[in-house]
Amino acid sequence: DWKPSSIIDEQVARIREQIGENEVICALSGGVDSAVAAALVHRAVGDKLTCVFVDHGLLRKDERKQVEEDYVKAIGVRLVTVDAREQFLGELAGVTDPETKRKIIGREFIRVFESTAAQLVAESRNDDVEGEIKFLVQGTLYPDVVESGGGTGTANIKSHHNVGGLPEDMTFELVEPLRALFKDEVRAVGRELGVPEVIVARQPFPGPGLGIRIIGEVTEARLDLLREADAIVREELTAAGLDEQIWQCPVVLLADVRSVGVQGDGRTYGHPIVIRPVSSEDAMTADWTRLPYDVVARVSNRITNEVEGVNRVVMDVTSKPPGTIEWE
Ligand code: XMP
Repeated sequence: DWKPSSIIDEQVARIREQIGENEVICALSGGVDSAVAAALVHRAVGDKLTCVFVDHGLLRKDERKQVEEDYVKAIGVRLVTVDAREQFLGELAGVTDPETKRKIIGREFIRVFESTAAQLVAESRNDDVEGEIKFLVQGTLYPDVVESGGGTGTANIKSHHNVGGLPEDMTFELVEPLRALFKDEVRAVGRELGVPEVIVARQPFPGPGLGIRIIGEVTEARLDLLREADAIVREELTAAGLDEQIWQCPVVLLADVRSVGVQGDGRTYGHPIVIRPVSSEDAMTADWTRLPYDVVARVSNRITNEVEGVNRVVMDVTSKPPGTIEWE
C-alpha cells in the first residue's frame, strides 16, 4: 500500500541529496515517464533543471508540439529543443539490425545531451553556472531495467534506449527517480505533481520511436509513410473511444516485404502495415486486443487508400510472450 505523495517526498529528498547545488538536464521525450521524472526533479531543484527535447526525426505527428506547448505551460520548466534529425538519420543509414539500431539511437541521444550541456554552460559562463553539467535525468522505469537485462534472473530481451543502449564512454551521472516504479504508479505520481492529463494518460511510446517500427532500413521516406499510417490508427482508435481499453497500438512498416495488390485499375507491389493493439497491466506481459471488426475495417480502408505505397494491412494476434510488444 503506497501513496504517490510519499514517493514524491522520498524521491525529492533523494534527488536533492544526489544533485546538491549542481545544474542538471533532463531528457524529455513527450512521453509519460520522462515528463513525470522531469516534474519530480523540478520539484526538487527548481530552476537548476533544464529540459532537453530531441527531435530525432523518429517522432510521431505533433509530438514536439505537445511538449513545447502543453508540458512547459503546466510545469513551468525551461526547455531547449534540439533538431537532430540529420544526425540520427545519418547514423542509422544502412542499418537493419534491431539491437544495432537501438544502440545507435541510445548513443546519439547521449551525444546530443553532451553537446547541449556544453552549450548551456558556455552560454551562462557569466552567470552562476560553473564547470560542467554532469547530471542527466532519465525516466527509466522498472520494466525497462528488467528487459535490458538489469534485473535479477532475466535474460536480455532488448536494449531499452535509456538502459542497455547507453554508450560506454558516457560521463553523465544518471538521475532516475522512477527506476523502481511501474507505469500505473508513474501516472499516479504525475497526476499528483500536476502533469497535464493529456500527457499522463498517454499510451507508451518507445524512446527509439519509429526507428524500431520500420523493419528494415530507416529512411526519411519510410518514416513519412509510417507517420501517416500511425496517425490514422491513433485517430480511429480515439474516435472509437478505445484509448482507455488498449495499452498501446504499435504500427509497424514491413519495409523489406512487398506483396502484390490491385488498386484502381492496376497492379500494385506495395508494403504491408502491421497494427499491433495490445492490452496489458505493466508491459511485462500483454495480450492482443480484440478490436471491434468495424474499427479494424476502417483502419485498413483508410491506410490503403490514404498512404501511398501501402497495399495491405495485417493485424498482429500474438500475445507477449511469445511476441514482444514492439517488433524490434
Ligand atoms: P517490448 O517490446 O519489450 O516493450 O514488449 C515493452 C514496453 O516498452 C516500450 N519500449 C521502450 N520504451 N525505450 C522506451 O522508453 C525503449 O527503448 C523501449 N523499447 C520498448 C514498448 O513500447 C512497450 O510499452
